[in-house]
Amino acid sequence: MTDSIAILDYGSQYTQLIARRVREAHVYCELFPWDAPEAQVMTLRPKGFILSGGPNSVYDPGAPILPRYVLDSGLPVLGLCYGMQLLAHALGGIVAPSQAREYGPATVGLTTSSRLWADLHAPCSALYAPLDVWMSHGDRVESLPPGFISLAKSDNSPYAAMGDERRKLYGLQFHPEVKHTPRGAEILHAFVVDVCGCAPTWTPASFIDQSVSAIRAQVGTGSVVCGLSGGVDSAVAATLVHRAIGDQLTCIFVDTGMMRKGEAEQVVATFQRAMGMKLVAVNAIEDFLTALEGVTDPELKRKIIGAKFIRIFEREAQAIGAERPIELLVQGTLYPDVIESRGPERQAAAKIKTHHNVGGLPADMQFKLIEPLRYLFKDEARAVGEALGLPGEIVWRQPFPGPGLAVRVLGEVTWDRLQTLREADAIVREELAAAGLARDIAQAFAVLLPVKTVGVMGDGRTYQNVVAVRAVTTDDFMTADWTRIPPDVLARISNRIVNQVRGVNRVVYDITSKPPGTIEWE
Ligand code: XMP
Repeated sequence: MTDSIAILDYGSQYTQLIARRVREAHVYCELFPWDAPEAQVMTLRPKGFILSGGPNSVYDPGAPILPRYVLDSGLPVLGLCYGMQLLAHALGGIVAPSQAREYGPATVGLTTSSRLWADLHAPCSALYAPLDVWMSHGDRVESLPPGFISLAKSDNSPYAAMGDERRKLYGLQFHPEVKHTPRGAEILHAFVVDVCGCAPTWTPASFIDQSVSAIRAQVGTGSVVCGLSGGVDSAVAATLVHRAIGDQLTCIFVDTGMMRKGEAEQVVATFQRAMGMKLVAVNAIEDFLTALEGVTDPELKRKIIGAKFIRIFEREAQAIGAERPIELLVQGTLYPDVIESRGPERQAAAKIKTHHNVGGLPADMQFKLIEPLRYLFKDEARAVGEALGLPGEIVWRQPFPGPGLAVRVLGEVTWDRLQTLREADAIVREELAAAGLARDIAQAFAVLLPVKTVGVMGDGRTYQNVVAVRAVTTDDFMTADWTRIPPDVLARISNRIVNQVRGVNRVVYDITSKPPGTIEWE
């Protein structure tokens, strides 16, 4: 069993980042709500605990507490921010509101050597050398619990870090998990590897080995289906399951007609021919176009496409099942989806768009799920994809909305308009790749607008369509900045689109960040 760390979530907006950093140290970890049952957490057989930050004060009525089993286990504990205050409070220290809420960059100085500082490289490892950190807390530890000493201090606090080396209990008032604490990853690495003694063996190859055995055990001799959308997640999930059970897996690819140029052919070529997987490719283009006739409302487009997709998938899955009943469905669910769907407070966010993933589970289908990527972050899923031999064009593919180009052809979706957009979009992507920008840009695409403008070409007047180019830079797609594409690259994109794509005489560049804009236009 892989060595692992349990992270208890007290509601900090940074909790996911703690898991990211621990995984980057090649140590497996899982997040649990702070009040998850002991039995559930201990099934992981953790070698240590990390307590996240959170918005509460330990003295708030009903504030989340430190479950008894954590300290009773005798395992190392690292409390971050609220986690540190909980630890201090539970062990007899005093926590008090600070004069002012401390939020933002700060500097702390190490006051003594500690196992927690063991991986810090010079000059930060020197005593009293300034360490840049990110603070975000109201309360602070005023007096240390018995057995603890101060490990670092800031101008604002004598206890910016505390530790009891004998019991391996530590607390940090700052957030080592965020990028604004540049050496934070080294501190977390020291905790999980040096203090907890976890072997850094969590790699794509070890993950594949473990998953293959788990999938074989789950599937037995049964049959499995997977909806391939061409996206990274379903591609990696399908390939992993195929590695485990070969032809017991059948993939279904529904060509909706809303894919980018060459994409449908690429999915078939990659999975059927190169990877040797059993693939049913369904040409449903007419079906989708008919259903979308006269529809201009973005939400209605999404709903129509989602519903149609489910019906076709269902029909095809049953057709395979005629010979052998299908019991299991592969889904490319990733860890952020699992984490985000957990807390009701995280579901309360306003609905901006109905996001449906066309690889998604039909609500009334009686399948059991195989979700082999359920505990992976996107970049880990990509690394697994590469280790499984998936081609770079699939592994490094940008996210693509489930409804595809239907939400990028603004207004009514027709075959001609889709073809116009496909050509323009291909030029955008080709030119960005040629300029070496493809991997730095999180998402780049063309949008076909429902307006015509006047132009002049040769000696004649034109009255044709407008294409907008959208490119964004983002880590998480929740917020995004428009990419500053060099003007000469924009010029090449514009020239080629106007000259090579029939029916387009104007190209505009979208300079709106998110918020207030969304990444997609519909
Ligand atoms: P927005 O436009 O909301 O997009 O800023 C954020 C990210 O989500 C993708 N997106 C979708 N993905 N089904 C999906 O699976 C959808 O309906 C959908 N709409 C937007 C978008 O491409 C971006 O990566």
